[in-house]
Amino acid sequence: MPKAAAATAERQTPQAQLVQMARAHWLSSFVYVAAQMSLADRLTEAPRTAAELAQSTGCDALSLYRFMRTLAGMGLFTEDVSHRFSLAPLGEALRAGTPGSVRSAVLTLAGPLFTKPASELRYSIKTGKTAFEKVFGMPVFEWLAKHPAEKSMFSETMVGSHGAEPEAVAKAYDFSQFETVVDVGGATGNLLAAILSHHRKPRGTLFDLPHVVHDAPALIKARGLTDRIAIETGSFFEAVPGGGGCYLLSHIIHDWSEARCLAILGNCRRAMTPNSRLLIIETVLPTGNTPHPGKMSDMIMLTVPGGQERTEPEYCELLEKAGLRLTQVVPTESAVGIVEALPAWLKSTDRTYRRGACHRAGHFGPDRLAPRNDG
Ligand SMILES: C[S@@+](CC[C@H](N)C(=O)[O-])C[C@H]1O[C@@H](n2cnc3c(N)ncnc32)[C@H](O)[C@@H]1O
Repeated sequence: MPKAAAATAERQTPQAQLVQMARAHWLSSFVYVAAQMSLADRLTEAPRTAAELAQSTGCDALSLYRFMRTLAGMGLFTEDVSHRFSLAPLGEALRAGTPGSVRSAVLTLAGPLFTKPASELRYSIKTGKTAFEKVFGMPVFEWLAKHPAEKSMFSETMVGSHGAEPEAVAKAYDFSQFETVVDVGGATGNLLAAILSHHRKPRGTLFDLPHVVHDAPALIKARGLTDRIAIETGSFFEAVPGGGGCYLLSHIIHDWSEARCLAILGNCRRAMTPNSRLLIIETVLPTGNTPHPGKMSDMIMLTVPGGQERTEPEYCELLEKAGLRLTQVVPTESAVGIVEALPAWLKSTDRTYRRGACHRAGHFGPDRLAPRNDG
């Protein structure tokens, strides 16, 4: 939490804090409707009054004025003395098709794909099952495969919501040690492109479902990397491309049940050579009560794809079950860490292997659900 917000929260009574939490969904609705109405795009050319905007959007002028005033209060727009609204930096980020735009991310994350399952959170907590499937009748990636427009928007959401993360990952780890980097479930190649732009030596293989990589060539071409990235299609539940030096799983493992994660990790392990590294790029949850954005993400994973965020000991345990060994967790300047692993059969010869890391790192296996004393 930013310092000023934390100070304000501290000054508030517990009752006021809870009431604020209870109303938080309205903020989500406000930015969702602003994105739906393309309000930021409508202010690109020049400042406009609510009456002018009401004409082009077919809205009630006074209601739209009150909405614009609310959004100005949230920092998206600025209202001048003649009641003209212009774009503020937050509003700029909501424009479509601009570098770093989060319009698709707002429409996806604050839209029915996420809000409908959110309204069934209690079902997921009660049953351990995925609310998305209850609401939409099938798993999220199956649903996206049947809805091309939303699928493209979902890929754009990944790019928008990760922001500067790919750059931070590219900087935090020495990818120049590899000949090839295979991005498993790499969507449109946003992370792979950032890594290859930062490290001149490796070539890349982008691997994802056929209907998803359809959108990749445009992004790869825009980054000038067409000659260095090969695109392969398939399902990571069947197999992944063999012989890569580095296997990336970025925001993949948190999407799936443990059994499905073990299938993906097992296929990566079988594709790896003795010198390969597997890198899981995910939010690594702190243990104990430390506030962390990944804890909210963990609830989204439970409710939408049916996966989970993990602590370092939980990654250690999962990797061990998959015949892999966690060797280190490299922090980045973004919300994610890089969980590095090797095939377990290298454990006696590789000096970077951290023997007993799962046990050293603390609560392990079913015991992790038992009461703890780690604050
Ligand atoms: C949450 S997105 C992460 C995308 C990307 N790695 C990133 O970090 O932005 C999950 C990705 O897994 C892909 N995926 C889902 N099921 C898959 C499968 N069976 N085989 C390969 N990729 C799959 C999706 O198409 C999607 O691109």
